[in-house]
Amino acid sequence: MPIRAMRGEGQRIAVEPTDGRPGRLSTRWLRLACECEECGDTASGKRWLTPADILVGVRATSIDVSASEVRVVWEDGHVSRYGSDFLADHAGGAGTSRFQPQLWGSDLSARLGRFAFDAVVADDEALFQSLRALRNHGIAMLTGVPAETEATARVASRYGPIRETSYGKVFDLISRPDARVAGETARAQIPHTDEPFRYSPPGFIFFHAIRTGAGTGGTSLMVDGFHVAELMRTRTPELFELLSRHGVTFHREHPGEVFFSAEAHVISLDTSGTVTGIRYNDRCLAPQTAPLDRIDGLIEALAELTRLICDPQNQFQHQLQPGEVLVFDNQRVLHGRSAFDPTLAVRHLRSCNIDRDGVHSAFRTLARRFAPEEAEAILYQGAIF
Ligand SMILES: [Fe+2]
Repeated sequence: MPIRAMRGEGQRIAVEPTDGRPGRLSTRWLRLACECEECGDTASGKRWLTPADILVGVRATSIDVSASEVRVVWEDGHVSRYGSDFLADHAGGAGTSRFQPQLWGSDLSARLGRFAFDAVVADDEALFQSLRALRNHGIAMLTGVPAETEATARVASRYGPIRETSYGKVFDLISRPDARVAGETARAQIPHTDEPFRYSPPGFIFFHAIRTGAGTGGTSLMVDGFHVAELMRTRTPELFELLSRHGVTFHREHPGEVFFSAEAHVISLDTSGTVTGIRYNDRCLAPQTAPLDRIDGLIEALAELTRLICDPQNQFQHQLQPGEVLVFDNQRVLHGRSAFDPTLAVRHLRSCNIDRDGVHSAFRTLARRFAPEEAEAILYQGAIF
């Protein structure tokens, strides 16, 4: 029996749990939390009660606590029933746990989750474990993935709907002399997030190695954006402030075809000040429009971020092998690569994007089955501004 007693005190209701400290609930919150047939259900959206239906000063006329249920009769005669566990958790402040991501630098290798293609496509629990690794570190590796196009889409679609973009659904990145995007050249790339010029950048990216030309360069350089943001917050708080409170403009234009432009925070914070997303690609920075008294500070903040991203201490470096797929959160993890010699080997990666909320939805849905206590924590929601 999680609750011993509850008693109305006007706008508040005192909750005495069986173990733990006494807590209080808002009376108006409690009325709004009713999910009886008449009020409807918020999870499915078949909901009929609105916040405006509950008047300030709403009162309960009786509260009966039994082993698993609390029954409340309201002054207008409406009867509500609540699970005692739910009310005890909420009164104790446990209702709003935020997931704490595990930050990493060059030490990721020992902790990186590796999952076999055959298991992930056939077994929901293996899929769940890989989704959990993505939640924790923002990156995971799949192994033994066949080279066929169909295999890339087959495994990626286990994580959520594949997003079709102006570059297609599943696309090939092959080094070629008439490169349309930097990914098709053989040049080094500073770690970056993809497409920060979109209002909503790609969520998760799959990089499926088809041919890699090992030994000729082309090492993948992965950086935890949350880790470098926290380094900035500690070492240069004034620069962190600039990147988390002021907009930076990113753009991309292929004349006559597309012209994207977005002004957004490089470091997104949630309402508690926790880093929730990163967007940064030095190659897509537009000439900035910040006022003259802020512009040099802003450029220094971008320069400092670039230095942190390029510091090998903050990079997980990995030479992709054919059959490996790197999956990563494009609103947390920056990806780059060292230069390679295109005359020695052809480098061929196949890539696709999955919507971010699709991946987190898959995680929560499977957590209901395999780790129910993890299903409801608030996850970091990405580059939200
Ligand atoms: Fe990229």
